[in-house]
Amino acid sequence: MEIVTTIEQCIQYLEGCARPLGLVPTMGAIHNGHKELIKTASINDSTVITSIFVNPLQFGPNEDLDNYPRQVDSDLEKLKELEVDAVFLPSPKEVFPDNFSTSINVGNISNVLEGQSRPGHFAGVATIVCKLLLIINPHHAYFGEKDAQQCLVIEKMVHDLNIKTKILKVPTVRETDGLAISSRNMYLSKSERYS
Ligand code: PAF
Repeated sequence: MEIVTTIEQCIQYLEGCARPLGLVPTMGAIHNGHKELIKTASINDSTVITSIFVNPLQFGPNEDLDNYPRQVDSDLEKLKELEVDAVFLPSPKEVFPDNFSTSINVGNISNVLEGQSRPGHFAGVATIVCKLLLIINPHHAYFGEKDAQQCLVIEKMVHDLNIKTKILKVPTVRETDGLAISSRNMYLSKSERYS
């Protein structure tokens, strides 16, 4: 499994890789939901690349950016077991250098429901996903249906900007008690989990 940390290295790796190419974007803390995305990508694509990047743009000022679970070593182990071909693991500075100022605002769909209580969140998601799609230029990119609004935002962005990547949505994976698997489930107390 190739690990690339710069955009330049990533582009170089991709030049020689087998096609079609599938991208599974993540913020790490790899769980069974991610595994399902990767397994689906492995069926469709000859090369599967996973990105691990905790995207600061999608966290509000009072959200959990600093405490978001970061467990790169165990993530890499899991990705290796899943036979992912490459991992793009850039630093925040690599993706958003000091002079970075562009934001992708997808419009109304970003401002309702979760977007209403998390202003700027979906612009942050759209901006990083747009960057990843432009850097990696995959045939397919995989997202969990669990994040239904995120899927709609990304589909709208890809359509509006004529990005060639096909967005593929993968059914939600659940814990045995029915809760949709998420990296943040570890924050939930027992009572929050069942409320
Ligand atoms: O769903 C996520 O993990 C993130 O929002 C994504 C799509 C990787 C963008 O940072």
